[in-house]
Amino acid sequence: MIALMEWKAQVERALESFMTRLDAPEQLRASMRYSLDAGGKRVRPALIYAVLDAYGVSRTKGDATAAALEMIHTYSLIHDDLPAMDDDDMRRGRKTNHIEFDEATAILAGDALLTNAFTCLLETDTSADIKVQLLERLAIAAGAAGMVGGQLDDMLGERGGIDDVEALESIHRRKTGALLVFAVEAGGILAGANEDDVVHLQRYGRHLGIAFQIQDDILDVTGDAEKIGKPVGSDEGNDKATYPKLLGLEGAKTALAAQVQAAEEAIDALSVEATTLKDLLDFVVKRDH
Ligand code: IPE
Ligand code: IPE
Ligand code: MG
Ligand code: MG
Ligand code: MG
Repeated sequence: MIALMEWKAQVERALESFMTRLDAPEQLRASMRYSLDAGGKRVRPALIYAVLDAYGVSRTKGDATAAALEMIHTYSLIHDDLPAMDDDDMRRGRKTNHIEFDEATAILAGDALLTNAFTCLLETDTSADIKVQLLERLAIAAGAAGMVGGQLDDMLGERGGIDDVEALESIHRRKTGALLVFAVEAGGILAGANEDDVVHLQRYGRHLGIAFQIQDDILDVTGDAEKIGKPVGSDEGNDKATYPKLLGLEGAKTALAAQVQAAEEAIDALSVEATTLKDLLDFVVKRDH
């Protein structure tokens, strides 16, 4: 099996180190840690480490960027679960943050995870130039043009607003894909990959990102709530536009397979042997959680 457990343990150490040093009121720290410590697959950090592994660069170099990315992802989940958004009560096998604490604390924990992600990223063991590059890319991926914009359009797509696959793909590319693309890009930049390789890595990230959300949509229909650690049927309850809703389950699986093939082609175009990235792709699309 791939080094998933090692990558997971590595980012969890980096998160622990950052959170221990963070100056925060007790309730805010508790709420941030509650969601961070609940686990999760840590796929985004894993992608950074998988790229570093492929180029033979020390994983430590990716620690602060990986932790920052996981903080932003975790904030996006806390806010995604709020009553004003998907209104879910389970996440990562626990009560959602706003149920365990309260809505105001959950909102603020998300705000702090987002903001302090950037102070965390600045601890990356690299030059000031590269830090600025990473910072800009992460802000764009997480912000209005990326994750947040995708979440807004996802919300507008409720109750039948989206009926073609292109529009749905655009939502998936931004709400989920953007942070995954950042992960592989950041790995490439930190590994010193050449320009062509960075382009192939971005292409891999784009297809993996859409594949990731298609599988998430499929699991919302066919998954086991115990295993996925969040409720199933949330999308249907919110009348969300999803791949299974638009194309049916079989159609969603066919669309997923096409994304996987395109992602594999991008890996094959790299100048290095990146079996770690193929294995991670395989994990993402076959996962049951
Ligand atoms: C869930 O992300 C939200 C999406 C973007 C689909 P993950 O499936 O990566 O959630 P965790 O981090 O493992 O909990
Ligand atoms: C959310 O997509 C993607 C985010 C940016 C958090 P979903 O709403 O499908 O994610 P889950 O299923 O609640 O994890
Ligand atoms: Mg959502
Ligand atoms: Mg949700
Ligand atoms: Mg979902």
